[in-house]
Amino acid sequence: MTTPLIEISRVEEFSASHRLHNPRLSEEENRRLYGICNNPNGHGHNYTLEVTVRGEVSPETGMVMNLTDLMELLRERVLPQVDHKHLNLDVPFLREVIPTAENIAIALWKQIEPEIRPFRGCRLHRIRLQESRANSVEYFGAER
Ligand code: NI
Repeated sequence: MTTPLIEISRVEEFSASHRLHNPRLSEEENRRLYGICNNPNGHGHNYTLEVTVRGEVSPETGMVMNLTDLMELLRERVLPQVDHKHLNLDVPFLREVIPTAENIAIALWKQIEPEIRPFRGCRLHRIRLQESRANSVEYFGAER
């Protein structure tokens, strides 16, 4: 008999500013590579973060994980670290990387994954970070 696996998702939003700039490149190369996203004083986005958890449906609750618990851990422990922050300057776990959507997604995975671990039978499956209506990235973790 196979066990049904379900993916559940929660969407949250945060606003943040950033600047795409690689200090190892010249000013001119940075402008060419990042365009207006290289603006010296940064620019902002309203990010949409979708977090997907995968697991079995508990026979007791009928749920994989209570989505209210997922909402609370995101709102209480994850989003305050980035919401209304300058991602290059204010966020210790982004200080060593260029804060592209790709790198933000990887960094948020590292923040969220340990928070999901205590929920029995659940694991973080996907992070989808939408930077604008047109642009988004997805991350499924390092090992597949
Ligand atoms: Ni940007």
